[in-house]
Amino acid sequence: MRQIWITKAGAPDVLAVRDAPDPEPKSGAMRIRVAAAGVNFADIMGRMGVYPDLPPIPVVPGYEVGGRVDAVGPGVDAAWIGREVFAIIRFGGYADVICVPEQQVFARPDGMSAEQGAAIPVNYFTAWQLVVAMGGLKRGETMLVHSAGGGVGIAATQIAKHIGATVIGTASASKHDALRRLGVDHLIDYRTEDFETRAREITKGRGVELILDAVGGDSFKKGYRLLAPTGRLGMFGVSSLAPGKQKSMASLVRMLTSMPWLQFNPLSLMNANKGVFGVNLGHMWGENDRVRGWAGQLTELWAKGAVAPHIDRTFRFDEAAAAHHYIQDRKNLGKVLLVP
Ligand SMILES: NC(=O)c1ccc[n+]([C@@H]2O[C@H](COP(=O)([O-])OP(=O)(O)OC[C@H]3O[C@@H](n4cnc5c(N)ncnc54)[C@H](OP(=O)(O)O)[C@@H]3O)[C@@H](O)[C@H]2O)c1
Repeated sequence: MRQIWITKAGAPDVLAVRDAPDPEPKSGAMRIRVAAAGVNFADIMGRMGVYPDLPPIPVVPGYEVGGRVDAVGPGVDAAWIGREVFAIIRFGGYADVICVPEQQVFARPDGMSAEQGAAIPVNYFTAWQLVVAMGGLKRGETMLVHSAGGGVGIAATQIAKHIGATVIGTASASKHDALRRLGVDHLIDYRTEDFETRAREITKGRGVELILDAVGGDSFKKGYRLLAPTGRLGMFGVSSLAPGKQKSMASLVRMLTSMPWLQFNPLSLMNANKGVFGVNLGHMWGENDRVRGWAGQLTELWAKGAVAPHIDRTFRFDEAAAAHHYIQDRKNLGKVLLVP
């Protein structure tokens, strides 16, 4: 098999393709011939050496794949062999062959390509957890999503529009037209406009009921202020930690010192009727049944055409560094995939 390794922490050029013997599926696992592997911002932060969940480098990153089962381990129904699937994996997904525990593999419905399947787990499960499971978004409410043009942003927008909510998105100006077509009702160019001021104008001073924020630092503080009574702030990342392509102590210090350590506390939350919550899909491995339930609901919505990953570009395995540059240069609109 071929795998893409993070050989050391650093800029995208530290990614390298290496050969290894095909793995054999252990008890309770299936082997998948991978047709597409998802690239996520967490892989980028892992490559930079600022993602604490990543196992020690050198390591094969990657959380998700789409492909076909070609072998099963003891205890797994042989009927899976030959089935088209997608899967969520605890690292190692940048590979053309991978073994995955059965609970993390999902059958692809008719018509869903391997690319579409590979684009679902991280973006859509995270968006579902944020918007539905924890955010409790309702028809008629307003949601503000940061990095609306990223994979999670587009997934969250589709789910929110299905619910019947209004969506405000922040994104680079070059993405606004496409995002309007994808359902975002109001767009804010966060590079030239203050999102808190603009969102207040858009909501006529009322504020918003749900915010999805993976920028972190000051953005959490502004978001908390922007919540309407009963509003919820969902925090799920700190992309402000990665303004460049290599680890930066200055960004780490800036991010940590600008966090709202004192802004919310039991008394302020009660008196303002606001809620805050955090999401890390990478810490949900013990919640397989719950996550499988979300996958089932999302697959039904996909079959109805209510949600569909927006695949921006695919890169060959030997172009993995270019895929990381593409995202870090903020060129992507939706999902970036690696194909063997
Ligand atoms: N907690 C979880 O379970 C979880 C799961 C998935 C993702 N996340 C987090 O959610 C965020 C979005 O993930 P994603 O997969 O949707 O992203 P993505 O598809 O990789 O897209 C990233 C987009 O974010 C924007 N961005 C913001 N800050 C950036 C930076 N410092 N460098 C480069 N781009 C930046 C860019 O859009 P603009 O041009 O509009 O700035 C970029 O196109 C990331 O922070 C990620 O770590 C968390």
